[in-house]
Amino acid sequence: MSTYTVTFMPDNKSIQVEEGTTLLAAQRQAGYAPEAPCGGKGKCGKCMVEILEGGTPGEHKSCTIEVKNDMTIRLSERTMKNQILEKGVSREIEIQPWLPDALKDSSEQVCIAAVDLGTTTIAAYLLDAKDGHRVAVNSCLNPQSPYGADVIIRCEYALAGGSDTLANCVRETINQLIQEMAQEAGISPEQIAGVSLVGNSCMMHLFLHWPVDTLTAAPYYPHCKDPLVAPASEYGIHIHPEGRLWALSVIESFVGADTLACIIATDLEKREKLSLMIDIGTNGELVLSKGGKLLTCSTAAGPALEGAKITYGMRGGTGAIDHVFLDENKKLGYSVIGDVEAVGICGSGLIDLVACLLELEVIDETGFMDEDYQITDKVSLTKQDIRELQLAKGAIAAGIRIMCQLWGITLNDIEEVLIAGAFGNYMNPESACAIGLLPMELSGKVTPIGNAAGEGAKLAILNEREFHRSHELATQVEFLELANRPEFQDTFVDELGFDFED
Ligand code: FES
Repeated sequence: MSTYTVTFMPDNKSIQVEEGTTLLAAQRQAGYAPEAPCGGKGKCGKCMVEILEGGTPGEHKSCTIEVKNDMTIRLSERTMKNQILEKGVSREIEIQPWLPDALKDSSEQVCIAAVDLGTTTIAAYLLDAKDGHRVAVNSCLNPQSPYGADVIIRCEYALAGGSDTLANCVRETINQLIQEMAQEAGISPEQIAGVSLVGNSCMMHLFLHWPVDTLTAAPYYPHCKDPLVAPASEYGIHIHPEGRLWALSVIESFVGADTLACIIATDLEKREKLSLMIDIGTNGELVLSKGGKLLTCSTAAGPALEGAKITYGMRGGTGAIDHVFLDENKKLGYSVIGDVEAVGICGSGLIDLVACLLELEVIDETGFMDEDYQITDKVSLTKQDIRELQLAKGAIAAGIRIMCQLWGITLNDIEEVLIAGAFGNYMNPESACAIGLLPMELSGKVTPIGNAAGEGAKLAILNEREFHRSHELATQVEFLELANRPEFQDTFVDELGFDFED
């Protein structure tokens, strides 16, 4: 088979690829991480490149173009530094981590690590094993993103023979994060005694190399819900040779170890107030807590609130419109991360924008808008974007209502709403209520709790008891399968609109 040279501008970097390689794959081979939310199926249009030489000049979806001769292409400017949320609420615990015998009496500093493996981002923490203080923190985008923005596309990729690729790339990246943190702390990775891991159900399965077939078709259930304690080396993680990997339990279906970690970080089951915790990421997980009882469900909110499936949607990084507001003359204003020209809009900007356009009556209560709304010369909101947002917010709001019905409580009975995750941290709760993502009854009760999943992962590695307690909790949480509830469809349809009269 022939090989050809592909040159990437503006870096002027060249690589050799085999004939028939797509330009999307060529970018990955060259070490780039192009956006490809649809997994290279030609549907999302986020993988655009400009062909300068060797093909029809102009913009093309890189996943649809195969290399048949030498080519020169210009990469999109949308690859930028992302804001990754590393902090969250937590609580004091006794520091008593498990250590291998060889490290128990070490005169050198011994550390432990915690990893929050998100669909979009990975956050890692290095902690001192003696007093638990944070020695280093590191984060990056999940290297699996080019294989699909949402978990289902990635699971399909795994089922089609890509499970090794997905597991290996994420394991390598975690090693890299650990290695960099160790370097920053002036220790060797062999002085790290253990690593805890949390993530949503699909991320845990893909990392642990568990089969994902049961997560891709109804009735969705995990291959395994048990926690895992194993030599880290068996999972390709390079720390002390006897160091362990501590992977927290998956609760059920799509409610994963990350939700469990949020529960332990907030001591949710011990809270006196009737509390609702929401983790909005590429899906929405909800946990209701009352008098020691926990009820959870997962809503197929999709990644719209993280910018995917939105025409000019992007993650919350440089160039993203992150907030939109109306001034005293009802003129629309906005802020852009990094104070640069806007190139897109992230989830918090999107819900602000729709809230403002509802107030201005540009969007009506059914979600209809006469024509696409131009925010800047380059960024607009389309009618389809509003539909995507409606689907996401309808799913979350319906989930909240049905959970309340199941427990025979009203929305007014909820005393506090804890919102985890990056989107929850940056979003304006008023806008979330104005568009019905959160029912109006929850207005004024919202507290962002940051990356609570990461904090839970830390607690689980700082004290072995916390790890085991998390598993006990996982078996006690009542799980609600929304799709099986006869009232779900009607409630979801009711929540799609922006008419909140009753
Ligand atoms: S259109 Fe190419 S990755 Fe989606």
